[in-house]
Amino acid sequence: SQSIKPSSSHVLGSGAGAEIDRAECVIRMNDAPTTGYEADVGNRTSLRVVAHSSVFRVVRRPTEFLNHSNNMAIIFWGPPTKIGREAKGTLYRLIQRVSMTYSNLSIFTITPGKMRKFDSLFQKETGRDREKSRSWLSTGWFTMVIAIEICDNIKVYGMVPPNYCGRRPQPKRMPYHYYKPRGADECAIYLQNERGRRGNHHRFITEKQVFARWAKSYNITFSHPFCIFSNN
Ligand SMILES: *[C@@H]1O[C@H](CO)[C@@H](O)[C@H](O)[C@H]1NC(C)=O
Ligand SMILES: *[C@@H]1O[C@H](CO)[C@@H](O)[C@H](O)[C@H]1NC(C)=O
Ligand SMILES: *[C@@H]1O[C@H](CO)[C@@H](O)[C@H](O)[C@H]1NC(C)=O
Ligand SMILES: *[C@@H]1O[C@H](CO)[C@@H](O)[C@H](O)[C@H]1NC(C)=O
Repeated sequence: SQSIKPSSSHVLGSGAGAEIDRAECVIRMNDAPTTGYEADVGNRTSLRVVAHSSVFRVVRRPTEFLNHSNNMAIIFWGPPTKIGREAKGTLYRLIQRVSMTYSNLSIFTITPGKMRKFDSLFQKETGRDREKSRSWLSTGWFTMVIAIEICDNIKVYGMVPPNYCGRRPQPKRMPYHYYKPRGADECAIYLQNERGRRGNHHRFITEKQVFARWAKSYNITFSHPFCIFSNN
C-alpha cells in the first residue's frame, strides 16, 4: 500500500505516524518535516515533491531533508525559466549542487515538456486553461498525478474535501501547515486563492474537485479528515 502525506494541520493528533511508515512508499511535499511530528506523520520519506518556491527552505535544512542514508528521491517542479536546464539560473544551479553533494538522493526535475502535460491534464479535467486563468498548479496537483503514475493504491492524509470550506457553519480555523501552527487559516488560503484573478494563486478547490473524481477511478482513499470518497 502507498501513501501521500499532505501538509495540512488536520493530521495533528492523528497518531497516524506508524501507519504511514508501514506504507511501501511515503510521499511528502515541499518542506514538510518529520522531526518532532513523527507520531502523527511518521518518519520515513520515499519521495518528496518540491516546488521551485520551496527549494531554498529545503536546502537550508539538509539534516532534515537531504542528508539521508536511505535512497530517497526528490522531484522538483517549477517553471522551466527557473529550474530548467536552459535557464541556468540560481535555482537550477542549486539543484545541481544538491544532487552532487548528496549522492544518495535521486534528484529529478520535471522537464518543460512534462510541465506542459501537467497543464493540459488540468485543462482536460477542468475545462480551464491554467495560463489564461493566471493560476499555478499546486504541489498537491503534481504530487497526486505522480502518485497515480507510480502507486497502485493511494491513501491521502490530511486533505479536506472540496466542499469543506464552503460549509455552514464554517469549519473551525486550522493552520494551513502542521509545522506552522501560527500560520494562516487553511480555508482562508483556499478561498482567497480560488477567487484570485491576479496571478500567482492556486486553484486548490478546483483541484480537489478533480481529486474527488479521480478517487472513483483510481484506488484513492482519504484519511484525517476521514471520509467521503470511497471508490466502491
Ligand atoms: C521511526 O523510526 C524508528 C527507527 O527506525 C522506529 O522505531 C519508530 O517506531 C518510527 N516511527 C515513529 C512513528 O516514530
Ligand atoms: C551527512 O551526515 C553525516 C552524519 O550522519 C555527516 O558525517 C556528513 O558530513 C553529512 N554530509 C553533509 C554533506 O552534510
Ligand atoms: C550513502 O549510502 C552509503 C551506502 O548505503 C552510505 O555508506 C553512506 O553513509 C550514505 N551517505 C550519506 C550521506 O548518508
Ligand atoms: C484499494 O486499496 C486497498 C488498500 O489501500 C486494497 O485493500 C483494495 O483491495 C484496493 N482495491 C482495488 C479495487 O484495487
